[in-house]
Amino acid sequence: MTDKIPAEALSTVSETMLATLYSHAVENRYPDALIRDPRAEELVAQIDYDFERFQLNPTNHTATCVRLRQFDRFAQAFLAAHPDGVVVHIGCGLDTRFERVCSELPDNSQMMWYDLDLPPVIELRRKLLEETPRYKMIAASALDLAWLDIVDVHPGKPFLFIAEGVFMYFPDAEMRRLVLVLRERSPKRHMSATYAANMPGLP
Ligand SMILES: C[S@@+](CC[C@H](N)C(=O)[O-])C[C@H]1O[C@@H](n2cnc3c(N)ncnc32)[C@H](O)[C@@H]1O
Repeated sequence: MTDKIPAEALSTVSETMLATLYSHAVENRYPDALIRDPRAEELVAQIDYDFERFQLNPTNHTATCVRLRQFDRFAQAFLAAHPDGVVVHIGCGLDTRFERVCSELPDNSQMMWYDLDLPPVIELRRKLLEETPRYKMIAASALDLAWLDIVDVHPGKPFLFIAEGVFMYFPDAEMRRLVLVLRERSPKRHMSATYAANMPGLP
């Protein structure tokens, strides 16, 4: 018997979030770690899953950690410049950027953060992490644009959309459609995404 939480019903794509979580947890153990993510270690310990099956490739591992650090910096800079800003983390997996970034900033009761991922991921996430008045989870496919109505309740506020390690799983046309809709619906938006930057024809 184990009281760990099983990681069930995850698609192969969603399972990749467990690999990034494990990378963050392993890196956190080094004294000279590239990142500090103690929460990743706690989550790995709470989930009933054979994380050691991930043979961490040094190049991918380092890239994953540097990416996390860079996206944390984007979010930190955005919220420092826009204390009333709204952050939407698309394809959040089990990442706890909200905690990492917001613990570094004064609590201003103005910002809002949404973590979005596919329903089985959010189901697992809800068993491990809690919502607060300024931190909400959205169980939806980013490609089903109905989720925009959930975040579209902050008129005039600046938005940061983060998509870290996600767009590569989307068909190019769908990714392009999503980015263009975000641009149209959120005039004051900022976008930080891996992969999108490589796509010709995107804003
Ligand atoms: C490599 S993981 C990255 C997780 C997290 N961003 C990180 O860096 O730790 C890819 C994530 O994209 C999510 N994902 C894939 N397709 C998605 C979709 N259509 N809508 C929302 N999330 C999706 C997966 O469920 C998974 O959590």
